[in-house]
Amino acid sequence: MSTTFDAKAATWDEEPRRRAMAMDVVAAIAQQIPLTPGQRLLDVGCGTGLIGLPLATVTKSVLGVDLSAGMIDRFTAKAQSAQQTGVRAEVRDLIASPLPPASIDVAVSAMAFHHIDHVDQMLHSIAGCLAPGGWLAVADLETEDGSFHGEPVPHLGFDPAAFLIRMQQAGLLAVSQARVHVMQKPAGGRSYPIFLAVARKP
Ligand SMILES: C[S@@+](CC[C@H](N)C(=O)[O-])C[C@H]1O[C@@H](n2cnc3c(N)ncnc32)[C@H](O)[C@@H]1O
Repeated sequence: MSTTFDAKAATWDEEPRRRAMAMDVVAAIAQQIPLTPGQRLLDVGCGTGLIGLPLATVTKSVLGVDLSAGMIDRFTAKAQSAQQTGVRAEVRDLIASPLPPASIDVAVSAMAFHHIDHVDQMLHSIAGCLAPGGWLAVADLETEDGSFHGEPVPHLGFDPAAFLIRMQQAGLLAVSQARVHVMQKPAGGRSYPIFLAVARKP
């Protein structure tokens, strides 16, 4: 799976619908979470940084993690060319190699969870590294019929309310869930709603 994303990394940002989704998700995150300079932000499944790098203009500190080395290389190159010195990214499986407790203030993720086999283990790992009062915001596809990818993926999106409950089961307090974007695919003109679920560490 990471080899597939490795191959896509170089041209990932060229797709306008991905950039449009990222802009709306970043705006929704900034509306939901009081972001401030100095917060330690984690971007899970960061890809090339379409979410994490814009958020870094506020928090200054961002750690991107992803299974794809190609995506991490693109993320790092973009951060360096923008001189975002508090930003770094690494290949890391947070389930196998969790971050230390209370090391993150804000965790975000966009369009990665439907690629993650063990969603609840990932939520537990993220919850474990959040500081008290820390935030988690996950954007992903609402439940779809499999046509979004047209090839097998671990999850055909999620029911947003059920996802929020899974965040609670990982030890977080539910804050909100809302539709924040509708992604339009050109072939056949299908549209795919994307939700943002937000929770907080007690
Ligand atoms: C559809 S891309 C989204 C990338 C980026 N967040 C964006 O919105 O452009 C999904 C990303 O999740 C990564 N990914 C999949 N499973 C992962 C896991 N278990 N841990 C970290 N990253 C993962 C993939 O390598 C890929 O870069």
